[in-house]
Amino acid sequence: MYPESMMESLKKVEANRAANAAYEPARMSAEDKDALLKKYHPDYIEDQFENLKIGPNKGEKVPHELAAMLQAHSRLANYEVDLSNPDYDVDVLVIGGGGSGSAAAIMANEGGANVMIVTKLRHGDANTMMAEGGIQAADKENDSPAQHFIDCYGGGHFAAKKELVYKLVTEAPDCILWLNHLGVEFDKDEDGRMVTTHGGGTSRKRMHAAKDYSGAEIMRTLRDEVINRKIPVVDFTSAIEIIKDDKGNAAGAVLLNMETRQIKVAKAKTVIICTGGAGRMHYQGFPTSNHYGATADGLVLGYRAGAKLLYPDTLQYHPTGAAYPSQILGALVTEKVRSIGAKLVNANGEVYIHPLETRDVNAAGIIRETSDRGNGIDTGDGQAVWLDTPMIELIHGEGTIMKRIPAMHRMFAKFGIDIRKEPILVYPTLHYQNGGLDIDTNCMTTEVENLFVAGEAVGGIHGRNRLMGNSLLDIIVFGRDAGIAAAAKAKDVTVGNLTLDHVKAFEKELADAGIETELISPKLLPDYRPEDKKDHMLDVIVPDYK
Ligand code: FUM
Repeated sequence: MYPESMMESLKKVEANRAANAAYEPARMSAEDKDALLKKYHPDYIEDQFENLKIGPNKGEKVPHELAAMLQAHSRLANYEVDLSNPDYDVDVLVIGGGGSGSAAAIMANEGGANVMIVTKLRHGDANTMMAEGGIQAADKENDSPAQHFIDCYGGGHFAAKKELVYKLVTEAPDCILWLNHLGVEFDKDEDGRMVTTHGGGTSRKRMHAAKDYSGAEIMRTLRDEVINRKIPVVDFTSAIEIIKDDKGNAAGAVLLNMETRQIKVAKAKTVIICTGGAGRMHYQGFPTSNHYGATADGLVLGYRAGAKLLYPDTLQYHPTGAAYPSQILGALVTEKVRSIGAKLVNANGEVYIHPLETRDVNAAGIIRETSDRGNGIDTGDGQAVWLDTPMIELIHGEGTIMKRIPAMHRMFAKFGIDIRKEPILVYPTLHYQNGGLDIDTNCMTTEVENLFVAGEAVGGIHGRNRLMGNSLLDIIVFGRDAGIAAAAKAKDVTVGNLTLDHVKAFEKELADAGIETELISPKLLPDYRPEDKKDHMLDVIVPDYK
């Protein structure tokens, strides 16, 4: 159901549909892609970034919004925590209850560790749950981990840490098998073989999916396994600082109960940060596909504890965020829509780019089409291009949409748009944090002993751009490995005296650098309502803790 103002453009899309469906747009050259990215991708807008003044990445650039959090006060700046009598004492503390946290906890439990998950919302409230399109693994005859490596490394502009990419692609087939055995219902053909499709930048069809509910299906299974193993989950509880011991090693976390505002102390031999992404930071004012709690907390926790960040200046803007109607602005329109045949079409009904260029290229392409080229559609909220979904059934036959992407149908049907008959409007949405904490192949931070990281809070796995389906994969690969490594390490750890001296030292660094701010971090939740702002201000929040 589109307004009259869009009808002229819509008619052009309909008139060109059959020809557009048959048309194979050329792939861009590497030089053309570089030029497009430099001119139009948000990562290249210099005045949206600033250099950090303190901490392990001092002098390096990050988005303003992240700088404000990395250089804010601790939530404990004016508050003494009694560390002498911890409320929890475990071998492995997992911070975050999404896919990577759950996979880590399962494998730590498997390794014999006493493991506990803390999560600031409910178990499973995470970007994993919202992932749609699928998970990559080179497990078909015509594919290999080497091919997967080349796609991933090239798609990330040759910036990823090769040893992490190697782990990602070589462990991928086993992760699919593991998930399958745990009970994930992957799409299968009539012979029982898993159905695989392309994603942007993949040279082989290696995307395994559960329709377009892939993340929810994986999260459902992992959560069941955590429950079956009776792994304790403390929900509605945020980690607000990493605790160290007097040897300088990670040794637990200070926790904040989000409902009662009580402070708790968790002591642990090893800690795994699995706090996920940052879409709710709304970098450069973009809407987001992310869940409500995606506020870069892990980066702040790790940074204040002395861990280094890798590529914190690179974000992923998924090309196809819903742009109309307003109620779903920024919601994810899975890349699978394009991988099964829909093309991007401008206001004149023209296909202007290959639909499966990598995400950064297609995002920049939409921004160019709707800005300098003036070929966008005015949605009332901004500009957009069409994603011509009826093409899918033109190519693959009736019924394909309900079979392969029912969630997309449902999301738009609520607003009177039948994607089988009408195209949809899309524009880039903030989707993924490419950068994060720097880890070694054991998933441990390079600076802080016994502090492990998995999932979206890690930097370096995907370089400067991630391919579709490599995130659901990395949460499993690195979640599992972090759990195994942290449990093994915990066997040799004797925790010294607990301390928050590093937090005090950070406060001093702030003062010495002349940074004046009223903000506190981690952010924990977005502050859309004026009354939420008080939770982010130093002078207001501290008395609540007492
Ligand atoms: O488009 C999507 O379904 C998103 C997948 C991903 O980020 O890996």
